Amino acid sequence: MERTIVIYKSKNGSTARYADWIAEELGCEAVRAEDFDKKDFAKYDNIIYGGWVHAGGIMGFELIRKNMRRLQGKKLVIFAVGLNLMNQEARMQLRQINFAKRKVQGLTCYYCPGAYDPAQVRGLDSGIIKMMVKMLESKREEEMTDDDRQLLSAVKNGADLVDRSYIAPILAEFGR
Ligand SMILES: Cc1cc2nc3c(=O)[nH]c(=O)nc-3n(C[C@H](O)[C@H](O)[C@H](O)COP(=O)(O)O)c2cc1C
Repeated sequence: MERTIVIYKSKNGSTARYADWIAEELGCEAVRAEDFDKKDFAKYDNIIYGGWVHAGGIMGFELIRKNMRRLQGKKLVIFAVGLNLMNQEARMQLRQINFAKRKVQGLTCYYCPGAYDPAQVRGLDSGIIKMMVKMLESKREEEMTDDDRQLLSAVKNGADLVDRSYIAPILAEFGR
């Protein structure tokens, strides 16, 4: 029997929701990256890592990147949870930021729409969001894409785009 684990990093719970659904479907455990000991990679054949996206970076992804030697020969699937991952340009940018290093270049990454609540954002993060809003609002009307408009509305008013159906391609990796 193959042993599988879902490891995730979530701040406000949307990535955790996806991780729990995947674990439920695959009949395995989902653990927070903070609670995972890299020595335990040895116990698993299949590793699924999910992280929320923060300014283009997959949070906690260094757990994978720094342990590629330990992960050799294992099946590794990544998923990223964010508000702006549905358009091709954003996905390309995410790949450039997170998968540029040779050792992680070939990794498979799936994208799951996240959730956002303006009331939960504090400190440096609210500065990042303000910059995002400013950048989007500075675009001329004819430059704005539907994705831009959706993102702007999501960061200003909040959004919950999380849906169980988005885990289907991840489950398919495991024959489900
Ligand atoms: C400071 C900040 C930066 C973010 N940057 C991005 C981003 O670059 N791309 C994206 O798709 N989503 C971005 N998001 C949206 C989050 O990825 C989204 O809200 C996600 O669902 C949060 O996951 P969690 O609920 O598991 O914490 C950002 C959110 C915050 C608060």
